[in-house]
Amino acid sequence: MRIPEDVRKDIPLTSEVIYFDNTATSLTPKPVIEAMDEYYLKYRANVHRGVHRLSQMATHRYEESRKVVADFINAKFEEVVFTKNTSESLNLVALGMENIFKPGDRIVTTPYEHHSDLLPWQRLAKRKGLRLEFIEGDDEGNLDLSDAEKKIKGAKLVAVQHVSNALGVIHEVEELGKLAKEEGAIFVVDAAQSAGHMEVDVKKLHADFLAFSGHKGPMGPTGIGVLYINEEFFDVFEPPLIGGGTIKDVDLDGYRLTEPPERFEAGTPNIGGAIGLAAGIRYIKRIGLEKIERQERKLVRRTVEGLDELGIPWYGPRNPKKHAGVVSFNVPPLHPHDVAAILDERSIMVRSGHHCALPVMKKLGINGTVRASFHVYNSLEEVETFLGVMEELLRNLK
Ligand code: ALA
Repeated sequence: MRIPEDVRKDIPLTSEVIYFDNTATSLTPKPVIEAMDEYYLKYRANVHRGVHRLSQMATHRYEESRKVVADFINAKFEEVVFTKNTSESLNLVALGMENIFKPGDRIVTTPYEHHSDLLPWQRLAKRKGLRLEFIEGDDEGNLDLSDAEKKIKGAKLVAVQHVSNALGVIHEVEELGKLAKEEGAIFVVDAAQSAGHMEVDVKKLHADFLAFSGHKGPMGPTGIGVLYINEEFFDVFEPPLIGGGTIKDVDLDGYRLTEPPERFEAGTPNIGGAIGLAAGIRYIKRIGLEKIERQERKLVRRTVEGLDELGIPWYGPRNPKKHAGVVSFNVPPLHPHDVAAILDERSIMVRSGHHCALPVMKKLGINGTVRASFHVYNSLEEVETFLGVMEELLRNLK
């Protein structure tokens, strides 16, 4: 596939707007929409609940989608649980693992997490009398790995984002996972901003639990997410939700849960969503993760170079190797929302504000940023248009 031309052809919206809000959600290519349409038009039925042919077909496609996800992250089929999104997946981990903690146990995370990888641990720590500790890091988002080594020693659980949604920094998840496993700690990875943008391999990352959403990097629909559960935890992880589909047997006075993954998916799942997510992953694979990464790095390089030329301050790692496709910046004295509104007038979509990562903003002493975030269908021409608008904005500010 030619990058980005061929991908842009599959996403009609790319010819109408400059979409730089991929960290919030990505645009949807036609094959994803077609796969979901096919489900709704041709074999719409529930899964695991019918002998009729539509239900058989829906079940087959739903489980085939699980296999696609499992292969994508190098997991086993039964280790993949469909959820609503990253937030739900991470909340499930905190709730399902609650009983392994004793007062005084330590959870280690970073100051750069978005709220979904922070609040569940804060609540768990409060409920169980745990200590929540943060690995030191600088204003670019780089973690202090010697502090990580100290803090991870004796920790019960370590939770780290792969890529920061606010700063774009790629963390050393593999190294942190290794440290966590050497200490016998449970290692949780928030892959919300890496899946679909770069390789995410649960084995290489030493992940016990890993979460991501379908609608971001993997170009799937909203409302479908993934929770990877290492099979070693199948009998430790207590499913926070039980009911339809999760049982082997039920009497009025009790129940026996069935095997994973059904054990962890109560009620009718988002069938069309899972099928759409698998179509998104197939699409990503057709493009190739290396090409996606290369294109995003090219866009980031030109963006930060252009911002530097204009004297616009941006946040995030100065080391290009650690910088994923997210560029956060400010145009003082303008409020980030005002900059985003001006860009919107020129049909450039960015996110502004705290990006659901208030502690990051507080660490930097700012109320928010403007954030341009890329996917493989974004082009260098779009970046030049964006920089042109920024230049004009600065001229008008004088
Ligand atoms: N966490 C998502 C973002 O950064 C919603 O926009």
